[in-house]
Parts: sequence; C-alpha cells; structure tokens
Amino acid sequence: MKAVILVGGEATRLRPLTGNIPKAMVPVLNTPLLEHIISYLSEQQIKDITLAQSHPTQPIESYFGNGSQFGVKLNYTLEDAPLGTAGAVKNAERYLLDETFLVLNGDIFTDLDITAMIGFHQQRKAKATIALTPVDDPTSYGLIETNAQGRVTRFLEKPSWNQVTTNMINAGIYVLEPEVLTHIPPQVNFSFERELFPLLLDHSEPIYAYPTSAYWIDIGTPEKYFQLHRDLLSGKSSRYAPSKKVVIGKQSHIHPTAQITGTAVIGGNCAIGRKVKLIGPVVIGSGCEILSEAIVEESIIWRNARIGQHVNLIGSIVADNCCLNANSTIEDSVLGDNVTVVSGYKLEPGSRIQPGKTVGAKLI
Ligand code: GDD
Ligand code: MG
Repeated sequence: MKAVILVGGEATRLRPLTGNIPKAMVPVLNTPLLEHIISYLSEQQIKDITLAQSHPTQPIESYFGNGSQFGVKLNYTLEDAPLGTAGAVKNAERYLLDETFLVLNGDIFTDLDITAMIGFHQQRKAKATIALTPVDDPTSYGLIETNAQGRVTRFLEKPSWNQVTTNMINAGIYVLEPEVLTHIPPQVNFSFERELFPLLLDHSEPIYAYPTSAYWIDIGTPEKYFQLHRDLLSGKSSRYAPSKKVVIGKQSHIHPTAQITGTAVIGGNCAIGRKVKLIGPVVIGSGCEILSEAIVEESIIWRNARIGQHVNLIGSIVADNCCLNANSTIEDSVLGDNVTVVSGYKLEPGSRIQPGKTVGAKLI
C-alpha cells in the first residue's frame, strides 16, 4: 500500500517553533515528528510514501533522502503555491494511480491500527474511509456525522459550538480509492475537508467513518505539542514505552550533584552542571549545556541550547540554538530558534519570542 503524508501548509499556530522548520520536522522526544510517522507506516508494511510539500524541500529532503536509511521508498512533490490538502494529493497523482492508498496529515501522532482500518474500508467497498477520534473541543477540527451503518452523512470543518452535534472528528487519516482523484481539479487550491468530502457526499459516494479510541493528537499548537510529550512520557501511547524514567544519550555528562526528578529524556553530547535541578517531564535535545544551579522544570529544550547559571526555566519550549543567560527566568513561554535572553531578565510569562530575537536588552 502507498501513502501520502501532507507536510505543507503554513503552520502559523505552531510559531515561533516553526519559524525556520516545517511543522513535520519538529522534534518529538528528540526525533522529528515525520520520522515517527514514517516508522509507524513502515511497521505496518506501508513503505512507498510520498511527501507532499508546499514549501522549499531542503530540510525534509536533506534529512530523509530517498528513504532507504529509514526502510522505505520516498517520493517528493512540491507545489508552486500551496494547493490545500486535496490539491496536494492530486499533485502527487502520478505516484498513486494503481491501487487503494492512504493519506495522512503530517502533524499527527497516533497508534491507530492502519491495517485494521484498510480491512474495514475494503469490507465496506468504500470510496473513502475517514478515521474518527473523540476530542473535548471539536471546534478546532472537522466534525463528522455518521448514520447507524457508519456511513458519513455530514462533514463540517471547524464548526462553531452551536453546530457541534458529536465529539467525533476527522483524525486526518484517509483510505482512498484512486478514482476520488478525478473529483479534484489539478493545480487548484482544493481541500478534502471543505470541498472534496462534501462533494463526494453530494454524489452519494460511499464514504465510511472508522471510529477509533487509539492514542491520537494533532500537534498544531505549542500546547498540543507539549501535551504529546507529557502523554508519551506517561505511557499513553503504545508507540513509546519508557523503559526508564530517565534516558540519557551518548556522550552526555551529568554532574553527580545534579538532581533529576520525574521523567527526563536527555539527548547526546549534553553537559548538565553542578546542582542543576531537572524536574520532569523534561526533554533536552543533543548538544545542550545546562550550567550550575539552573532549574529546568516541565520544559522541552531542542538542540544546542546554553542555559546559564541560576536560570529558571519552567513550563516552556525552547527551540534550537537558544542562549538563556545567567539568572534569567522564563516561564510558560515559547522561544523560537536562536533566541537570546540577557542575564537577569525575567520574561513575561506566556511570551512567544520569534526566532533570532534578543530579549531583555536595554535600548540605547
Ligand atoms: N502539501 C500541502 N499543501 N500540505 C498542506 C497544505 C497545502 O497547501 N495545507 C495544509 N497541509 C498539511 C499540514 O501540514 C497538515 O499536516 C495537514 O495538511 C492538515 O493541515 P492543518 O493546517 O494542520 O489542518 P487542521 O489541523 O486545522 O485541520 C485538519 O486536521 C484535523 C485533524 O488534525 C483537518 O483535516 C480537520 O478536518 C481535522 O480534524
Ligand atoms: Mg493540524
């Protein structure tokens, strides 16, 4: 079976984390989300995968190449201008014509059993099968109503609360027959959610829903991205079974006086200094240096950060190459890559700092 993963779009809600990288490349437990998705597919014998991109290809292609190192065959497509979710799949049509295929949003983490979903699709002789998952707030998603036989009767993207009739939403995983591609105009911005699915319903095509209670999350906002880490570290998905509460990468050095409480994942080549306190869940990327007596609590740090002496970092996400100078305090904030916080500065809680900025500097 072939699959298309949608890795384009603007990722505006995940900024400033996605200032310089696509949403699919954000690290999840120090590994790009897309690598988790590719191994999830590969484990289910889906090894011919097209990555549908709408922005320059460099970060994804240079990391994954032709896929052989990851045990899969990768094709890439690139849109001249973003074509929307269905338009992106139409643009990948040349890789998809001969058999039933799978489409996945590239910003989800799930352990749904795809093989069972494909079996369900084939048994129903569906033209499209959409995985459904329950959520607390359906207004950020595509709401799907079904009849007693499980056929989709209505698709309502981003409903308002007074339109909410169910908590079951589109999980962004579709099994499709190639003929649905004939309903998508080429090189036009076209979405599954607002256009193709309602159109197929108008044509009375058999579209089925596949409800699941498997672990599922869309990492589209910093809060959800954080939630995914919390969930994985507390064992909520079968795709990550923490064998130890504290995982330390190769060549990392933890000073004997440093204290680690709760769960922590520390990448390779890190130096955790004297009397540092790590209060989990904490995830630290490779090449980070945390200087003496700093406190890092419930935070995610990407690669190559320098956290100075006596820094307090609490409830925050820090992207690549940031420098938090001595005695600064960062709480409930999200820092893009290459941000500097000057010594002694207390960042306003809830801050979002764009990549490359220096915060706390006096204007001269
Ligand atoms: N190639 C390409 N081109 N990919 C795109 C484009 C595009 O123009 N626009 C969006 N994508 C990709 C995104 O990277 C993401 O992986 C996926 O398509 C869905 O886009 P989002 O922007 O994340 O949509 P959403 O989260 O608001 O809503 C979608 O996902 C929900 C589940 O997570 C919809 O499919 C909802 O119906 C659904 O409930
Ligand atoms: Mg999304």
